[in-house]
Amino acid sequence: MAATGIFLTAVIFTVATVHCSSFPTTLTLERGISPSHDLAQLRELDRSRHSRTLLANHSGDIFFSLQGQYQPPVMGIYYTRLRIGSPPKDYFVQIDTGSNVVWVSCVSCMGCPAKSDLGTTVNYYDPGTSTTSGLLPCWNNMCRAGSQSSDSFCSTRTSLCGFQLQYPDGNAYGYYVADLLHVYAASDPDMKNAISSPLVFGCATMLTGNKTKSHKVVGGMLGLGPRNLSLISQLASQGVTPRAFSHCLRGDEIGGGLLVLGEVHIPRMVYTTLVQSTSQYKLDLQSIAVAGKTLAIDESVFKTTDTQGTVVDSGTTLAYLADGAYDPVIEAISEFALRNAISYPNNMYKCFLVGGSIDKLFPKVSLNFADDSTMVLYPKDYLVKQSSLAGDVWCIGFERVTGQQITILGDLVLKDKIIVYDMEKQRFGWTDYDCAVAANSSVNNGNSQKGATSKSSERNVPYEVVLMMIIMLLMHMIPSSSYLFL
Ligand SMILES: *[C@@H]1O[C@H](CO)[C@@H](O)[C@H](O)[C@H]1NC(C)=O
Ligand SMILES: *[C@@H]1O[C@H](CO)[C@@H](O)[C@H](O)[C@H]1NC(C)=O
Ligand SMILES: *[C@@H]1O[C@H](CO)[C@@H](O)[C@H](O)[C@H]1NC(C)=O
Repeated sequence: MAATGIFLTAVIFTVATVHCSSFPTTLTLERGISPSHDLAQLRELDRSRHSRTLLANHSGDIFFSLQGQYQPPVMGIYYTRLRIGSPPKDYFVQIDTGSNVVWVSCVSCMGCPAKSDLGTTVNYYDPGTSTTSGLLPCWNNMCRAGSQSSDSFCSTRTSLCGFQLQYPDGNAYGYYVADLLHVYAASDPDMKNAISSPLVFGCATMLTGNKTKSHKVVGGMLGLGPRNLSLISQLASQGVTPRAFSHCLRGDEIGGGLLVLGEVHIPRMVYTTLVQSTSQYKLDLQSIAVAGKTLAIDESVFKTTDTQGTVVDSGTTLAYLADGAYDPVIEAISEFALRNAISYPNNMYKCFLVGGSIDKLFPKVSLNFADDSTMVLYPKDYLVKQSSLAGDVWCIGFERVTGQQITILGDLVLKDKIIVYDMEKQRFGWTDYDCAVAANSSVNNGNSQKGATSKSSERNVPYEVVLMMIIMLLMHMIPSSSYLFL
């Protein structure tokens, strides 16, 4: 159980400079909204009170320290803390680059666990007790943008913007609110120059499936995907951060790491082009080599379309290989390993009984991307240790996506690297890095926020239409006195 506070010291600054492009001096507010007179006044107030001076003083390095556990295949979760509202309260959320919505557990939520086995307590967001909270109406541009990608929908009865989101481990239902998110620069431990930025996020009124289980859930999700409602899209469109972020996920049992809103620059960084995709971060994987030998895999297996391709998803614990790539990769690794290790029976994974260092006994796996960029996976980047009485048993952590040519790069391969998602330059970067050192740094976690990710392979839970009626009822009961500042 790892929830160690992670602190950022000067160390990381000498290694990794966080680059933020020039900031506007005021927040850019949503276009196209015709707010009532009162709303406009409130907006001005928020703007002058929270934003202008803060942005002017802001040095650009916004760090969220991450907590979590990495003990696959049982557990792999990275989360951080968001400070929201007036007065501000903290909410723990899993970081997830594979989804596009930020939500937290709300008061009167059905199925939201009260605490998590990770040791965090779940704070329930209450729109009625935050003076800056407002409901998001259907006609708001953010709601309209979200509904184009089914991140949101309109409740005709209440005119409120609702959501019903499917995750591999359950569904989340509720309605959208807007409130102030408080972020602080790492160099500002006292939060004197905190930025308070409007954020549209989901207020969850019901969870289903394993989202209701305390062993996995921390209280919310921090969607970091490329679509409009994600944290990065919202902050970038307001000019608070660049349209780029980076993470360093610690791969040992302690877990945790660092999430940086901005781009971490390191000289040895390798980049490949981010494929244009509005819903996910996709890369152009072109071939896979094991021990330096390129495998014979039909190139159609790697083709990117709306429904296939290579996706980067911090919310997936392991990694998935497209159906057509799985067997060749597993066979090539096995062939190499069986020279010095023996096969060990396991129902789900290909495992080996190993008497020695995995670095020597297992091959390197190279993922070759467009732009001649290669991500080298060392044995620790694709093996998972199993406890066994017989000795050291290591299993190949790749799983097969049956019948589909989708490859998902999850925490198994993303950990122990600095990973950069840069929508401004439309590129994705990585370099090996000791995230324990990066995470050990940092100021204080006062402003740092968390993010966590844990996705299992349970996808495509069907919508439960009946349940929606209950949610609409709950939506109807929420106090309507609060106002919007967006
Ligand atoms: C949503 O995102 C698209 C693409 O980035 C952008 O063109 C559009 O203006 C955004 N809409 C809103 C309401 O922010
Ligand atoms: C929930 O999690 C358990 C254990 O992690 C798993 O066996 C089960 O299939 C999951 N159930 C659903 C509905 O996702
Ligand atoms: C992290 O910091 C603690 C205390 O400052 C120290 O004991 C520990 O060795 C550090 N760990 C790493 C990996 O740097």
